[in-house]
Amino acid sequence: MTDAILELRGVSKSFGEGDRRVDAVRDVTLDIDRGEMVSLVGPSGSGKSTLLAMVGGLLQPTAGAIVVDGEDITRHGKGARTRYRRDRVGFVFQGSNMVPFLTARENLLIVGEFGGVDRGALRHRADELLEELGLARVRDQVSSQLSGGERQRVAIARALMRDPVLILVDEPTASLNSELGSRVVDALKEEIHGRSKACIMVTHDERMAERADRLIEFRDGRLHSADARPETVRSSEAR
Ligand SMILES: Nc1ncnc2c1ncn2[C@@H]1O[C@H](COP(=O)(O)OP(=O)(O)OP(=O)(O)O)[C@@H](O)[C@H]1O
Ligand SMILES: [Mg+2]
Repeated sequence: MTDAILELRGVSKSFGEGDRRVDAVRDVTLDIDRGEMVSLVGPSGSGKSTLLAMVGGLLQPTAGAIVVDGEDITRHGKGARTRYRRDRVGFVFQGSNMVPFLTARENLLIVGEFGGVDRGALRHRADELLEELGLARVRDQVSSQLSGGERQRVAIARALMRDPVLILVDEPTASLNSELGSRVVDALKEEIHGRSKACIMVTHDERMAERADRLIEFRDGRLHSADARPETVRSSEAR
């Protein structure tokens, strides 16, 4: 019995055919443990978003297996795949999408529309997350009036609402200043540690990457390093 929430076994993804074939992700094998927050870094085009999309059940790998909490999601049929995306994984995309005419809080509460959740508990959880992510002040503001950074944080809070086992975030702090960015990453980390979830956070921001428990680096679709502790990376870099 392993403590891994996420196991990737020889995962590859190619797009196109022949001369136009792009090997976006190549033979990636990796485990992420319960309670672990991992940051994923690498140059533009190195396959980070493609990997996240496969783990989130949005893209089918060309080869390999992806096991989440004991479930091989690459073998899922359509129904199981939809349930997996809805209940097991929280996804924050590179450009976070909000319902513009709903308030910050309402954007969190819409996850309850899937049903089966106590409304009072839902509201309590929404307010708790808004507080943790520094959004209490803008709770009742419609999201078209929120700043880019605020909208990103609402997207993160929303991803956490359904209590997913795995949280995937693509560039969560891109439009945040460093103080706010650190606060967002720390709130995420607390959530991951405290509730024994796992998280992959893609970021170009070195300071944010360093706040994670482990740093994974992609180069050209391959795992370049998988266990670089933030300190190791820092000291091996010429500045
Ligand atoms: N649907 C697609 N069809 C063809 N090629 C694709 C597709 N999606 C991604 N690619 C290619 O796969 C490679 C990896 O893309 P990916 O989006 O995973 O990179 P990334 O590491 O997330 O980059 P960035 O840091 O710029 O977001 C790129 O060369 C990209 O052009
Ligand atoms: Mg990307």
